Amino acid sequence: MEYVTLSNEVKAPVLGIGTFMISPEDTVNSVYSAIKLGYRLIDTANAYMNEEAVGKAVKQAIDEGLVKREELFISTKLWPTLYENDAAVDDTLNRLGMDYVDLLFIHQPAGNYMVGYRQLEKAYKDGKAKSLGISNFYGDKLETLIRESEIKPHVVQLEAHPYCTEKEVMDRLSEYGTRLMGWYPLGHGDPGLVKEEVFNKLADKYRKSNAQIVLRWHTQMGFMTIPGSKNPDHIRDNGDIFDFSLTGEEMAEIAKLDGTKKYYSASDAEVEKYASMHLPFEG
Ligand SMILES: NC(=O)c1ccc[n+]([C@@H]2O[C@H](COP(=O)([O-])OP(=O)(O)OC[C@H]3O[C@@H](n4cnc5c(N)ncnc54)[C@H](OP(=O)(O)O)[C@@H]3O)[C@@H](O)[C@H]2O)c1
Repeated sequence: MEYVTLSNEVKAPVLGIGTFMISPEDTVNSVYSAIKLGYRLIDTANAYMNEEAVGKAVKQAIDEGLVKREELFISTKLWPTLYENDAAVDDTLNRLGMDYVDLLFIHQPAGNYMVGYRQLEKAYKDGKAKSLGISNFYGDKLETLIRESEIKPHVVQLEAHPYCTEKEVMDRLSEYGTRLMGWYPLGHGDPGLVKEEVFNKLADKYRKSNAQIVLRWHTQMGFMTIPGSKNPDHIRDNGDIFDFSLTGEEMAEIAKLDGTKKYYSASDAEVEKYASMHLPFEG
């Protein structure tokens, strides 16, 4: 595994497993096998409805002596309907069965997101979150967050892949040393992305799969990457990307794809709807 150091000196793995749209049962299996294969970063969220499953897999791996809690890097995200709920962080930790997370995000710039971020800052000071993140922040809301936050975000989670490197946001955040953790790193399974000719060619050259080439590109861009998978072969392959490096020329060739596609975009009104989308466990 390769690591980066965040702006608050916390060491973070560059590669992890994502758990979006993965059922609790599949999450237990995927996360457990990922840890067994050497993954150390796991990304979940209140809204994925699988935090308990992540906690279960982590506990099993620790109980079996595969890993120690302090070797793992667990990230999760507060959902907007919980930003004004003072118990949201403790409830999140309870679902995970953990007394801290390594990275705590606010998931969407909806509702009273500054109150949500204050909860994160409090969790950081209380030792319940070792680093803080924002997710899906752009434009005015990003500016508000930067202006009003006491602790600047250590990580930003945004859609990122060879078609979209989020240069504008990352330039804006560069003075704070905020690190990008890209979501949809493989285009959410879009075969068109991994089958781009440049990846066919590099896969042949390095005797790797096209997905492995894309993931290696992420890490060489300095991104943290969290491909989602419930397929044991994919989980194994996605973790096996540290025995080769793309050259500067190859990185430049891949850069030609940048700016050509974004899979998900939402208007302000659509994002605001998240503030009233209650999660099943909210009762
Ligand atoms: N902050 C946010 O708003 C946000 C939004 C979306 C996602 N995320 C996070 O980002 C993570 C990654 O995004 P994602 O899971 O939606 O998309 P992704 O990682 O780009 O793609 C996942 C898809 O790719 C397939 N796949 C994985 N490895 C593969 C391989 N080696 N070869 C071929 N196909 C492969 C998976 O299928 P198999 O299961 O068959 O492998 C799945 O269909 C999420 O899991 C979540 O943790 C965050």
